[in-house]
Amino acid sequence: MDLKEMAAAEAVKLVRDGMVVGLGSGSTASIAIRLLGEKVRNGWKLVGVPTSRDSEELARSVGITIDELKNHPTVDLTIDGADEVDPDLNLIKGLGGALVREKIIAAATKYEVIVVDGSKLVDYLGQKAPLPVEIVKFASESTMHRLKRFGCVPVLREKNGIAFITDNGNLIADCRFQKIDDPKKLEADLNLVPGVVDNGLFVGLAHRVIVASKDGLKTLERKS
Ligand code: 5RP
Repeated sequence: MDLKEMAAAEAVKLVRDGMVVGLGSGSTASIAIRLLGEKVRNGWKLVGVPTSRDSEELARSVGITIDELKNHPTVDLTIDGADEVDPDLNLIKGLGGALVREKIIAAATKYEVIVVDGSKLVDYLGQKAPLPVEIVKFASESTMHRLKRFGCVPVLREKNGIAFITDNGNLIADCRFQKIDDPKKLEADLNLVPGVVDNGLFVGLAHRVIVASKDGLKTLERKS
């Protein structure tokens, strides 16, 4: 079993028959979705609330019943990935481009479980990954210019040589910071910039992080 599989399988052990489960995005969360599909094929009744179109498509293909958040204002448990995890379990997410829906569903979730391999653990956010910021298309150059004032270098994300478009029809500016000292403040401040929809800082949302490394599994719990 590879590291992502180990972490995903451990998270799926927390799911119970009858739960409303938030379905994360990215390669590690996708493994969890496939494992949840096995549970459904064994007779479990789960309702999946997907964080992206890709996750929705995958979940449907493995037999998971899908529903919208409006019908389940509270999600029992979400399994999602992350790009960086700091010692306080704050996260950078969104290298897969699903940060807005992921954050909406995380905020509606009673127990948010993050599954990563050990390479995602960092001493401080910004150590390895850029911070994805979802911005509207209108006047995106001006929004990018304002983002620079936060001390980062924003780069418009592209896929196959053209601008990457999110499931919400927006753009992503990947903002490279040297070091993010105060994730809570930066998360709030970035969202005040006109044209910014949301950013990939997830502060105080993860309850548990399951880390798989060559030494085995480690579970990190939020302190408060
Ligand atoms: C998508 C995400 C992903 O969860 C994050 O990029 C981790 O992906 P992976 O498990 O493939 O490393 O935030 O928006």
